[in-house]
Amino acid sequence: MLRLLLPVAGLATVLRAANISQRTFGIDYGCNCFVKDGRPFRYISGSIHYSRIPRYYWKDRLLKMKMAGLDAIQTYVPWNYHEPQMGVYDFSGDRDLEYFLQLADETGLLVILRAGPYICAEWDMGGLPAWLLEKESIVLRSSDSDYLAAVEKWMSVLLPKMKPHLYQNGGPIIMVQVENEYGSYFACDYDYLRSLQKLFRQHLGDEVVLFTTDGASQLYLRCGALQGFYATVDFAPGGNVTAAFLAQRSSEPTGPLVNSEFYTGWLDHWGHRHSVVPAQTIAKTLNEILACGANVNLYMFIGGTNFAYWNGANMPYMPQPTSYDYDAPLSEAGDLTEKYFALREVIGMYNQLPEGLIPPTTSKFAYGKVHLQKVGTVVEFLDRLSPAGPVKSTFPLTFVQLKQYFGFVLYRTKLPKNCTEPTQLSSPLNGVHDRAYVSVDGVLQGILERDKSLMINITGKAGANMDILVENMGRVNYGRYNNDFKGLVSNLTLDQDILVEWEIYPLDIDGAVNHSIHGYPDRPKRSVGNPVSYETPTFYTGTLLIPGGIPDLPQDTYVNFPGWTKGQIWINGFNLGRYWPARGPQLTLFVPRNILVSSVPNNITVLELEHSHCSTQACEIEFVDKPVINATTQLFALQEPSAFFFNHLLQLKRSLQKGCTVP
Ligand SMILES: *[C@@H]1O[C@H](CO)[C@@H](O)[C@H](O)[C@H]1NC(C)=O
Ligand SMILES: *[C@@H]1O[C@H](CO)[C@@H](O)[C@H](O)[C@H]1NC(C)=O
Ligand SMILES: *[C@@H]1O[C@H](CO)[C@@H](O)[C@H](O)[C@H]1NC(C)=O
Ligand SMILES: *[C@@H]1O[C@H](CO)[C@@H](O)[C@H](O)[C@H]1NC(C)=O
Ligand SMILES: *[C@@H]1O[C@H](CO)[C@@H](O)[C@H](O)[C@H]1NC(C)=O
Ligand SMILES: *[C@@H]1O[C@H](CO)[C@@H](O)[C@H](O)[C@H]1NC(C)=O
Ligand SMILES: *[C@@H]1O[C@H](CO)[C@@H](O)[C@H](O)[C@H]1NC(C)=O
Ligand SMILES: *[C@@H]1O[C@H](CO)[C@@H](O)[C@H](O)[C@H]1NC(C)=O
Repeated sequence: MLRLLLPVAGLATVLRAANISQRTFGIDYGCNCFVKDGRPFRYISGSIHYSRIPRYYWKDRLLKMKMAGLDAIQTYVPWNYHEPQMGVYDFSGDRDLEYFLQLADETGLLVILRAGPYICAEWDMGGLPAWLLEKESIVLRSSDSDYLAAVEKWMSVLLPKMKPHLYQNGGPIIMVQVENEYGSYFACDYDYLRSLQKLFRQHLGDEVVLFTTDGASQLYLRCGALQGFYATVDFAPGGNVTAAFLAQRSSEPTGPLVNSEFYTGWLDHWGHRHSVVPAQTIAKTLNEILACGANVNLYMFIGGTNFAYWNGANMPYMPQPTSYDYDAPLSEAGDLTEKYFALREVIGMYNQLPEGLIPPTTSKFAYGKVHLQKVGTVVEFLDRLSPAGPVKSTFPLTFVQLKQYFGFVLYRTKLPKNCTEPTQLSSPLNGVHDRAYVSVDGVLQGILERDKSLMINITGKAGANMDILVENMGRVNYGRYNNDFKGLVSNLTLDQDILVEWEIYPLDIDGAVNHSIHGYPDRPKRSVGNPVSYETPTFYTGTLLIPGGIPDLPQDTYVNFPGWTKGQIWINGFNLGRYWPARGPQLTLFVPRNILVSSVPNNITVLELEHSHCSTQACEIEFVDKPVINATTQLFALQEPSAFFFNHLLQLKRSLQKGCTVP
C-alpha cells in the first residue's frame, strides 16, 4: 500500500530530467496569477510538517494529500530541529528533509518551502535554537549582529541543500517563504528583511519566487511586506474573504491572490478546551476562496505530533500539548476524516481528482494494560542522570547557561534554617520557567508554576537538601516573549531571604532512559534515614509484548494514563512526549507502529512528576485503539486575549460574503 505511487508522477520525474530548461515558475502581474512552464497556474496546497510525523509515515500522508486533489504541500523548516547545538547539524532519519522533498516529488506534489529562520508553528521558540540566547540581550528576528551571523551560517548550510530541489532545477519547490508573520512582531526591522533577501538570493538565485505571509490586515502587512518579496496573507474560515484579499491588494495591487494559512482547525493549550472547527464552515469559505481564482494553503492538512519536547507556548504562559491534531482533515494519526472528504469534494470542483485508491486509515490496536514498576526517584538516580555532577553557583543558572536546552534540570540547595513551621518559598519575579517540583529530603513540598503558582510553604530542618526539579514545558513561539529562558531564571526566596549556594544538576534523562534506567537490575541505593516519597518525580518501567498469531502487528495505538498525573513517556528509547491527563484536554498519546517491535519486549519508561495510583491501586498504563484529545479535566479560563487570538478569532466572527469582488 505504501509503495503505491501514481504512475503519472513517476513518468513526469523522468521526463523532467530531459526538459529542465522548460521548467519555470513565476508571477504574472498581468493575469493576476502564477505561471508554471509558461501557463497560468493556481495551487491548492496543504500544510504537513515533516518534523511532526515519523519518516516511516511520510509517504502514506503525502499520498493521502495527493489523493485529496492537492497540487502542493507546504512545510516549515524548524532551524532548532536541525542545528541542536551551534554548528552541529542533523539531517538524518526523521530530520531528512531532502528525502521528504524527494517523496513529495515522487508523489506528484509541488512544495512550498517555509524556510524560516523563524517559523512560529506552535514549535519550541518558533523554530529558533535556544542557544541563540547565550547572548542574553540578543534581539531575535532583527539586525542584531549576533543573530544575523547565526542566521547567515545556518542558511549557508540549509539553502545550498535546497537549491537543487527548486522547480527550475528539476525539483518540486515552487516558492520559498522568508520569515513568518513578521508584521506581527514588534521589531519591524526592514534592514533585517533586506538582509534575509540578500541571503536567500545569494544562495537560491534570482529566479525563485520569494514570499512573505502576514495577517490579512494593513496593520500587519506594514512591517511584514517588503519590495522583492511577494506579499501573501493568512486568514480563517467564516470571515470576509473579499476584505481579506483586499488587504493583500494593499501590498500587491496586482498578482495572484494567496491565502498561505487557511485554518482547517485550531491549536490547543493544556487546560483549555480542545479546538474544533466544523467541516462545513471550512468547506464553504474554501469554496469562496477558490471561486476567486485565489491560491490557498490549508493549514494544517495534517497536524501530527509534538514528540519529545518540541511543543511551543503562548503568553500568558500556555504551553501546547503533545498532540498537534489541529482538527485537521487528516487526524494526528493520518486517519481519513469527514472533513477530509468534505474538502476533497470542494477541491474536486476545481481540480481533477487523481485516479486510484486513497490509502486507507491505518488499523489501531488495543494492546491493553501494561503493568509498571517503580524503579526509583529522579534524586535516587541522580548519579546516572547527571554523570558529570553538579555545577556550583551562588545564584541559580538558566538552562542556556548550563548548555542544556530541553527537558529537566535539578536545582539543589540546603535549607539555611529550621523551617519547623510552614515557611514561604517563593519566586517573587515569576522566574520558575516553567514548573518546579519541590521536595525536602525526599518529601514532596509542592509545585511552583510560571504565571500560576509563585509561592508554596515548606517545612524541614536546617541543612536538609531542598531539591527543585524544574521542567521546561516548551518555549514561547509567538510574539515579543521569544527570549524564553528556562530553569530558575530569577532568585527564589525563603521568607524574605534569597536562597544561595546552589548545586545544579544538568540531567540527560533521554540518554539514561536508553542506557541505565530501563531494566537496570539493581535499584539505586537509598541513603539510609532518608524517607523517600514516591510523590516526588519517579521513574516507572514495564514492557509491552506484541501478541503473536494476529496478522499485521504491530499496529498503531494510543497510550492512556488512568490515575497518572503528569509526566513524560518513552517507548524503546523514543520520547513520545508529555502526558497530563490531570489538566487535559489530551488524555492519550499517539504511538506510531514504527517504534514498536514484535520480536522482543518493548521497553516502556515513564517519568511521573507528581503522583500515580501505584501505592494504592493497580500500577498500569493502557494501550487503547481510540484517541481522547478533547477531555478538559481542569479548565483554565483564557486570560487576557493576546493580539494573537484577537487577530484570528475576530475574522471568525465576521459574516460571510458570497462571490468574489476582489480586483
Ligand atoms: C518539455 O518541453 C516542451 C516544449 O519544448 C513542452 O511542450 C513539454 O510540456 C515539456 N515537458 C515537460 C515534462 O515539462
Ligand atoms: C466584505 O468586505 C467587503 C470589502 O471590505 C465589503 O464591501 C462587504 O460589505 C463585506 N461583506 C460583508 C458581508 O460584510
Ligand atoms: C535547628 O533545630 C535543631 C533542633 O531541632 C537545633 O539543634 C539546631 O541548632 C537548629 N539549627 C539552626 C540552624 O537553627
Ligand atoms: C502558608 O502558611 C501560612 C502560615 O501557616 C498560611 O497563612 C498560608 O495560607 C500558607 N500558604 C500557602 C500557599 O499554603
Ligand atoms: C540573585 O540576586 C543577586 C543579589 O541580589 C543578584 O546579583 C543576582 O543577579 C540574582 N540572580 C538572578 C538569577 O536573578
Ligand atoms: C535513544 O534511543 C532511541 C531509539 O533507538 C533513539 O531514537 C534516541 O535518539 C536515543 N536517545 C539518546 C539520547 O541517545
Ligand atoms: C528491552 O530491554 C531488554 C533488556 O533490558 C532488551 O533485551 C530488549 O532488546 C529491549 N527491547 C528493545 C525493543 O530494545
Ligand atoms: C470528544 O470526541 C469524541 C469523538 O469525536 C466525541 O464523541 C465526544 O463527544 C467528545 N467529547 C467532548 C467532551 O467534547
